[in-house]
Amino acid sequence: MEQYIIRGGNPLVGEVEIGGAKNAALAILAASIMTDETVVIENLPDVRDINVLIQAMQSVGAMVERMDRHTVKVNGSTIRDLTIEDDYIKKIRASYYLLGALLGKYKKGEVALPGGCNIGSRPIDQHIKGFKALGADVRIAHGLIITEAEKLKGSHIYLDVVSVGATINIMMAATMAEGQTIIENAAKEPHVVDLANFLNSMGANIKGAGTDVIRIKGVQKLHRTEYSVIPDQIEAGTFMFAAAATKGDITVKNVIPKHLESISAKLMEIGCEIEESDDAVRVVSSKPLTHTHVKTLPYPGFPTDMQPQIAVTLALSEGTSIVTESIFENRFKYVDELTRMGASIKVEGNTAIIDGVRKYTGAHISAPDLRAGAALVIAGLAAEGFTTIDDILYIQRGYEDFEIKLRGLGANIEKVSSEKEAQKFKLKVG
Ligand code: UD1
Repeated sequence: MEQYIIRGGNPLVGEVEIGGAKNAALAILAASIMTDETVVIENLPDVRDINVLIQAMQSVGAMVERMDRHTVKVNGSTIRDLTIEDDYIKKIRASYYLLGALLGKYKKGEVALPGGCNIGSRPIDQHIKGFKALGADVRIAHGLIITEAEKLKGSHIYLDVVSVGATINIMMAATMAEGQTIIENAAKEPHVVDLANFLNSMGANIKGAGTDVIRIKGVQKLHRTEYSVIPDQIEAGTFMFAAAATKGDITVKNVIPKHLESISAKLMEIGCEIEESDDAVRVVSSKPLTHTHVKTLPYPGFPTDMQPQIAVTLALSEGTSIVTESIFENRFKYVDELTRMGASIKVEGNTAIIDGVRKYTGAHISAPDLRAGAALVIAGLAAEGFTTIDDILYIQRGYEDFEIKLRGLGANIEKVSSEKEAQKFKLKVG
C-alpha cells in the first residue's frame, strides 16, 4: 500500500502549474458521448476519478482514446449498452453523470444507485425530481436507477437545494429534450458553466449558466467539438493554502483568478499577501497568521472542497477560528488526525472551533477522503519532523502528480510503498 512520507518544516516557494478541473472534466467527459461525432477534450487531468469514468464509458461501448496524457478523443456512436455497472459507481459517484447523458441521447439509462460516501449522506432526490419533470419514468430496481422516456419534454424545475450534480445531470438531459427547460436555484459553480460552454460548443442552446436560472432550449442533435477544460479551482486553492501554512511564497499558474476570489479573500483576511495577474495568483505568507470565521457555501461562497485546507491553516493561526460546514455533514473526519499532530480543535455539530497552536509535530496518520487527505499533506509539510500518511489513494483521485508538484516547490515528500523505501527517504533527507 502506498503512503506519503514527509519531512516538514520547509516553506514552500516557487511556481506551480495547475491542471484541468477534475469536476468539470467529469461532467464534460460524460456529456461527450451525447453526439455520434468525434469530440476532442483537452486539459483533462490524469487522475484516478477521470480514468475510472473513462473505463465506465468504455464499458458501455464508447470509444475513448488518449491522444496524449491530457487529451482524449471520444466517440459515442459505438455505444451498445445503456447500463453503468456497480463497480464504477462504487469507485466514483460522478459516474451517475452518464445517466443524464444517456437519458438525453437515448431516452434511457441505467446506473447503479450510488451508495453512502464518507463525507456524509448524499441523496440524489433532486436529480430524480428533474428527470421526472422532463417526463422520464424513474424507478429503482435491483440496486439500479432506471430511467426511461418515450420522449423528453422541457419543463420548469425548481431545485430545493443548490446541487452541482443535479444541475449538471438535468442540464445534460434537457439539452436533448423537446422545448424549453428552466432550472431555478441552479448551482453556479465554474464547472457548471464549463459544461454549459462545452454543450453549447456541440450545438446545444443553454443560457444563464453561472446564474441561478439556467434556460435550455432542447436540440435534436449535437455535433463534434474540440474543447479545453478550465483550470482546477480546488487544486489551485490547495497550493495557495500550502503557501500560507508553510510560511511560503507560491505562484499558482494557469488559473482563472476570478474562480479563486473567495479563497484569496480569506487568505488576505488571515494575513497573507495576494498578487493577481491575468492567469496566476501569488500567495506570500511572511507574517504571523491570524484567526477568522468561515462558512462553506455554494459558489461564489467559500467551497466545501477547501474546508479542510483552510482549517489546517487556521489551526496554526493566532487566536480562535470558527469553521462552519454547511454543505456536507461529515466533513470533519480529519480533525482526529490533526489532533494527533498537535492541533486544538473541538467539533460541535457542523462547526469546528479551532484554537491556534504554534506548530504541528509529525505523526502517522490516514487520509479520510480526497480533500481532507490533501489538507493533511499540508499539515505534514508545515509540521516539525516526519509525517506518514496512509490511504493516499483518496488523494490520487483528484490531484495529478501531487508529490512531484510539491517537490518542485521545495517540499520533502516521497510516495513510498515499503518500510525500506520509507527508511531510505528518512536517511536521504536526514
Ligand atoms: C459536487 C462536487 C464536490 C463538491 C460538491 C459541493 C463533483 C463531481 N463533485 O458534488 O466535489 O464538494 O459539489 O460543491 O463535482 N443534495 C440533495 N439532493 C440531491 C443532491 C444533493 O439533498 O439530489 C444535497 C447534498 O447532500 C449536499 C448539497 O445538496 O448537502 C450539495 O450537494 P451537490 O452540490 O449535489 O454535490 P455533488 O454534486 O455531489
